[in-house]
Amino acid sequence: NARQLRGRASLDLRTAPPAAAVVLDTKELRIHAVADERGRLLSFTLGAPDPVLGRALTVELPAGVTRVVVEYETSPDGNGLVWLAPEGTAGGEHPFVFSHGHAILTRNWIPTQDSLGLRQTYDARITIQRGLTAVMSAEHLTPAGVPHGAGRRFEFRMTQPIPTYLIALAAGELAFRPLGARTGVFAEPALVERARDEFADLERMLAAAEAMAGPYRWGRADLLVLPPSFPFGGMENPRLTFVSPTLLAGDRSLTTVVAHELAHAWPGNLVTPATWSDFWLNEGFTVYLELRINEALYGAERAAMLEVYGHRELEAQVERLGATHPDTRLHLDLAGRDPAVAVTAIPYVKGAAFLRAVERAVGRARFDPYLRSWFDRHAFQSVTTDAFLRDLREHLLGGDAELERRVDARRWVYEPGVPSDAPRPASAALERVEAAARAFAASTSARSLEAGATSAWTPQEWRHFLDALPPGSSDEQLRALDEAVSRDHPNNSEVLFAWLRLAMRSQYAPALAAAERFLTAQGRGKFVKPLYAAMAESEWGAREARRIYRVARPLYHATVAAAVDAMVG
Ligand code: BES
Ligand code: ZN
Repeated sequence: NARQLRGRASLDLRTAPPAAAVVLDTKELRIHAVADERGRLLSFTLGAPDPVLGRALTVELPAGVTRVVVEYETSPDGNGLVWLAPEGTAGGEHPFVFSHGHAILTRNWIPTQDSLGLRQTYDARITIQRGLTAVMSAEHLTPAGVPHGAGRRFEFRMTQPIPTYLIALAAGELAFRPLGARTGVFAEPALVERARDEFADLERMLAAAEAMAGPYRWGRADLLVLPPSFPFGGMENPRLTFVSPTLLAGDRSLTTVVAHELAHAWPGNLVTPATWSDFWLNEGFTVYLELRINEALYGAERAAMLEVYGHRELEAQVERLGATHPDTRLHLDLAGRDPAVAVTAIPYVKGAAFLRAVERAVGRARFDPYLRSWFDRHAFQSVTTDAFLRDLREHLLGGDAELERRVDARRWVYEPGVPSDAPRPASAALERVEAAARAFAASTSARSLEAGATSAWTPQEWRHFLDALPPGSSDEQLRALDEAVSRDHPNNSEVLFAWLRLAMRSQYAPALAAAERFLTAQGRGKFVKPLYAAMAESEWGAREARRIYRVARPLYHATVAAAVDAMVG
């Protein structure tokens, strides 16, 4: 109930030559004392707080000291750990806590050198109140925990060096179900059976990823289903991917997020961008692998649909910024900015499109082995965009001037906008859906829905149909859409979101109760932020948004709440 982590961070330093001081990152931490391995106090200073970076903790190192032990506590409303009261969980009886380190939030719960270009191993002992299970992005040495004072203690070990944003912790009332030999799912008992069924393909996804990227090096690949306020679809914590409960659609239609997080076991977790400006080396490669995993498991049509969605977002982002805006380059200039601003369709979708373009130029027979060798050559290393371009030239395009000209890697990476000859994904199924949306929008009746073509649509097709409709359909049409969605896909968060956004933009009051339920039942930024934005488009909607937000705000992660604050006040 203290909503607080108290403890000791013990850091073994490797410095060459010996350093006179070490500087650690901290944010919203209270530092009680710093000592060496024998308990001798070391003198330290805390720098002035920077709104993005936090405060530098400078510790003086007497000759020979290679371990510093920092005694500290987190603040109850710091952003690194999210503390949920029992009401914020599915079971409703036990509290829950989870960490989120990406991009630079690990410093909010561990004093360490929280820099993307550095890696560390870790051991952890976590003591927590009885009845809860703690899990981390590491080997679980005491899966059931051991009694410790009034609580239970859990031990963890991560022997592979990882960047600090991948250190992750969660604790709550958790159950576990195995899925395959290396895979399984943790979730609250109330959700664990649904989770087991939803993610049944995890082991096959892993095999498909390995076939492209090489052996999975992290041992286990488990999933943890988080409470509804988890702000992301998924987060690729090593050995233990965190996922949103909004993926539990009951029809396995939203599992591409799992494919995506699994793919990060190579780009991101194994081969890490050296700086946040190189973020596309992480997300662009991951989206590329995500699409290939989908293709291998579910076929080219399903993968094409996903690729089309991505490109629609990419086009919207380029349009918002303008095709000559520097932030549309793959290699970003983030100097002085919060790295969180890098999270847009540019590194994700333009990044993947670049790899598609290379794949198209050389063919899969050459591209696939190259990709795998890239991960092998740079395993457990940090890489820059320039290093990738050199590697590409040396190991794939090698001296073929015509090929290099055709790929034009520097154009993709260092220039704004999307090259005019970029691969354009197409999906026949989505084109049919777009035609249906045009016909629907051109009339004022809902007859085309009643005719029944839509009842065979997959959730992907429904979502695309709803996204393609302009706001302002007739009440009869909106009523028919409402009925069709709640009949065919009542539990699919992507379909529901697409419907509610359209309904709110159309100022369709009968959907208000459903919007309110949706906005108070989950806190995923991808849904919450655009839905409030859609409501804020009209005075009617803005008023209702403020009313709903007053109740919903405590459910949201601080980063999501900050964005909604700016929209609805
Ligand atoms: N690493 C990201 C999650 C992330 C990005 C957290 C930026 C914090 C800041 C993760 O791999 C991701 O991209 N998740 C996506 C889903 C994916 C299928 C595009 C998400 O959560 O929406
Ligand atoms: Zn990702």
